[in-house]
Amino acid sequence: MGERKIIYLDHHATTPVDLRVLQDMLPYFTEVYGNAASIDHEYGYEAKQAVDKAREQIAKAINAQSEEIIFTSGATESDNIALFGVAEKYGHRGKHIITAVTEHKAVLDCCKRLEEMGYTVTYLPVDEFGLIDLQSLEKAITPKTILISIMAANNEIGTIAPLEEIGRIAKKHNVFFHSDAAQAVGHIPIDVQKMNIDILSISGHKLYGPKGIGVLYRRKSNPRVNLSPVIYGGGHEKGLRSGTLNVPAIVGIGKAVELACKEMAPAEKRYRQLTDYLWKALKTDFPGILLNGHPEKRLAHNLNISIPGIESKALIVLLKDVAVSAGSACTTNSVEPSHVICALGFGEGRAHNAIRISVGRFTGAEDIEQAVQSLSKAVKGLLQLSSV
Ligand SMILES: Cc1ncc(COP(=O)(O)O)c(C=O)c1O
Repeated sequence: MGERKIIYLDHHATTPVDLRVLQDMLPYFTEVYGNAASIDHEYGYEAKQAVDKAREQIAKAINAQSEEIIFTSGATESDNIALFGVAEKYGHRGKHIITAVTEHKAVLDCCKRLEEMGYTVTYLPVDEFGLIDLQSLEKAITPKTILISIMAANNEIGTIAPLEEIGRIAKKHNVFFHSDAAQAVGHIPIDVQKMNIDILSISGHKLYGPKGIGVLYRRKSNPRVNLSPVIYGGGHEKGLRSGTLNVPAIVGIGKAVELACKEMAPAEKRYRQLTDYLWKALKTDFPGILLNGHPEKRLAHNLNISIPGIESKALIVLLKDVAVSAGSACTTNSVEPSHVICALGFGEGRAHNAIRISVGRFTGAEDIEQAVQSLSKAVKGLLQLSSV
């Protein structure tokens, strides 16, 4: 990336690997490189032990049991197993699924495919803050409903869903509850027991772990969730996800989850200070600025703003020393305005103006100071251009 420092404020897209995580991973590339399924010798046995430890670290972090942890390639795959897995196993009971319009494409595109396969999907709308209405959720449940899939925290606006309440409704009606927690685990407390979550998706690279690794939590009992696999083969991960285990990455996600949960409270406080400062500084310079998402029920490291008259794509091109995003990483190639911001009901204009800023573990106060200056300069430049 050359000599010039670019301030990275796009931690919803991905995070750097924490050096403490990397340190733990390294021996598993070159020293303990055994196949965790070939446990007749020390190489494989040690690899399996490392995988078992990671399973325990993750289970402990979300109040699950280690047998309920399945390793996948990321939250996208976990979401796919959750949706198609439930649909295939429980389709005989009913073919109705409930989700929300603001979900990640990893859930929405599975739903689209399921519709093509004969399932019915209810896409719940959200209010101006990105929250679903709990009464509407309960009303949407029919005797044919087999799954509710609602994300824990939104990847664009950071709005945190009322997971406990959703879990209570799902349990009351005997419907499975899946939550895509890619942006939530390690940032907000997740307790699958207290929240009655039956299936949960986690991503390694959103919490200072490596890319290409994820977790699917699947409840073992009360109620047991049976899932059909999406990938078939050697029967790894209880037959749910075949393929040789990526031991270094599994060690990495285990450590990353453990660290993020241990350091959650002080990190949240620091993130809140940084994003509050950023918001107030920008608001002083541009009083018309709008906050997208919920003012309180939001991830502390998220700030999603719209500045009227400023096209986010143009701003991002102009911002040479700050890395922010105009939407979610998975849809940045599209020219469509963000489906999440559009769902808030303010019209497409606000979506075209939306900028997602997300601070992280290694973001300092001086980085935010610099970002404010660069953002203000770029916005003023664009406003001047448009007034000519
Ligand atoms: C909410 C959410 N779900 C799923 C994903 C996909 O995760 P992964 O990159 O691990 O497949 C992301 C990442 O963009 C996300 O933010």
